[in-house]
Amino acid sequence: MPSLDDVTRPDGGRPPRILFGGDYNPEQWPEETWPEDVRLMKEAGVNSVTLGVFSWARIEPRPGAREFGWLDRLMDLMHENGIGVVLATPTSSPPPWMGRLHPETLPRDANGLTEWWGSRQHFSHSSPVYRRYAAALTEDLAARYGSHPALTMWHINNEYCTYDWGDEAARTFRTWLQRRYATLDALNTAWGAAFWSQGYASWDEILPPRHAHYMKNPTHVLDFKRYTSDMLLECYRAERDIVRRHTPHIPVTTNFMPFWTGQDAWAWAPEEDLVSVDIYPDPKDPHGGQYNAMIGDMTRSQAGGGPWMVMEQAAGPVNWRGVNHPKPYGLNRLWSLQSVAHGADGLCYFQWRQSRQGAEKFHSGMVGHAGQQGRVFREVKEIGHELSLLGAEVAGRRVTADVAVLHDWNSWWAGEQDGRLSALVDYTEIVRAWHRALWEAHTTTDFAHPAHDLSAYRLVVVPHLYLLDDTAIENLLGYVRAGGTLVCGFLTGVADEDDRVRPGGIDPRLRELLGIATLHEWWPLDADERADCGDFHGTHWSEELTPAPGAETVASYKGGELDGLPAVLRNGRAWYVSTLPEPTALRTLLTRIAHEAGVRPVLDGLPDGVEAVRRGELLFLLNHQREEATVRIPGRHRDLLTGVVVEGSLRLGRYGVAVLGEPS
Ligand code: GAL
Repeated sequence: MPSLDDVTRPDGGRPPRILFGGDYNPEQWPEETWPEDVRLMKEAGVNSVTLGVFSWARIEPRPGAREFGWLDRLMDLMHENGIGVVLATPTSSPPPWMGRLHPETLPRDANGLTEWWGSRQHFSHSSPVYRRYAAALTEDLAARYGSHPALTMWHINNEYCTYDWGDEAARTFRTWLQRRYATLDALNTAWGAAFWSQGYASWDEILPPRHAHYMKNPTHVLDFKRYTSDMLLECYRAERDIVRRHTPHIPVTTNFMPFWTGQDAWAWAPEEDLVSVDIYPDPKDPHGGQYNAMIGDMTRSQAGGGPWMVMEQAAGPVNWRGVNHPKPYGLNRLWSLQSVAHGADGLCYFQWRQSRQGAEKFHSGMVGHAGQQGRVFREVKEIGHELSLLGAEVAGRRVTADVAVLHDWNSWWAGEQDGRLSALVDYTEIVRAWHRALWEAHTTTDFAHPAHDLSAYRLVVVPHLYLLDDTAIENLLGYVRAGGTLVCGFLTGVADEDDRVRPGGIDPRLRELLGIATLHEWWPLDADERADCGDFHGTHWSEELTPAPGAETVASYKGGELDGLPAVLRNGRAWYVSTLPEPTALRTLLTRIAHEAGVRPVLDGLPDGVEAVRRGELLFLLNHQREEATVRIPGRHRDLLTGVVVEGSLRLGRYGVAVLGEPS
């Protein structure tokens, strides 16, 4: 199987490198701009561009037409200038003629409203007509450019994310359900259809969960989410198989949206030759660096621990938040090198040149409206230069972790539905809080699926897996039995795979493992409410539970209805935290548990705000603050970015980064 290594570390020939560049949409510009683009790309050290992401209408202006001339010229131009091409199948934005001639290719929302052309991603994953046109275009693209020397990688579609509640979807949803359940009886049982008279007597009665009078059947909605992820994956696979047939040696990817609800990335990642992601932390978010770290950890884990790629990030502001902030000087570099520290071997942007027209004209580019004189482009050049210094030493090295955070889309989907006890419990927020606690404790963290082999980890953390199937439960039990340490946050193991509440409110096997005798009631907290737990406060949630004999109450609720009951419970190597401790308290708790489990921080004595990550033998030090920081380091090292040999300690300036290798 080809991989990212084949692009960054090809056999013989070129030295290892980190891919650097971005989405290049030259069809938006007069052709006279192209030579200028190439000149600036070379100045910035760009070695990779992604072409064609939104080029469908340009290539196929009429059904069946093919206009490849402009793309031929671009592919040649890139090759002549030593820039590799990540070639996209432009199937995420069909041309207007498709919707006009084949309205059934357009998706519909839950209210039956059509998503018309005029924006992007307006395709029904279930439409055979859409799929036929997409396959034909992919076939011709692969035939034409498969042997072009500029081609380094295939980029299928773009950020698969379209839901469809329309008639095309109704048809494939039924087929998907028939495969899952075989009989209507099995479906009715799984969905608990006896409730509210929902029993289905014929497959034809089943629809996507469209607009309804009141709350929808949660298992119906859960299955619809599973199905949507699977249908999009089918679209991906169809195009992937076509390009693979033409170019078995060229790696294939599709760019994930990070931590995006619509796509079960654990299921998708093994279908790719390399995993890539688009990361857009908010420059104003005081914890943006932690978010960047979390997405890096998650993507690396989806890539099986191997190198992965940032397919898109922003050099400055995005334009889809309420208020869109630029990146202050140094932040682009810091977050870029941080992604490299977390295992990225490719660092690309959306997009090369900022558009002057269209919906994203206020979204930054590597070359902004200020052009080559702009501060943003100057920083881009610095980053390109630094990546060229790092490439040979860094590419291909792995990051290893002793801690895994468990995350599963099924649980997210089931847990976020209507009809639960608190709408304030937000899955991503909870996962992020737990990851942040580990990150601030200077611990390197992987992500894993609850059914993955966890034996390599000293500590496994479950922030909030409301739904756990039997395989996952047995896996967690086996992990602790084999000597692992497990910490579970509140609302873990409540439901089975059909979203049926387990007897007793938490799976009985898990209850025994965690030392819970009885879970009497859940007590969600209001937004401004804090649960007094003695040394700290809990937020979001609290629980009325009785510990089993032998379990140790590490912290208990003080006052109120839950007075004296456990907030943190320990049963040997299994821990249960029935609230969300405030950030410092969660960090302190996890630091203690990690220490007992034999997990060490990457470096002792690191100041707050400075992150350390080891990638192979290299030590990345990243200062996430505007203030200078001094870091004590063991032994003598050479900073690969400056060439300077450092010993004993090191000063990092505002957003400063050092990459330490052996002194030689
Ligand atoms: C991504 C998308 C790009 C661009 C970018 C803007 O979601 O793939 O095409 O729209 O966002 O941030």
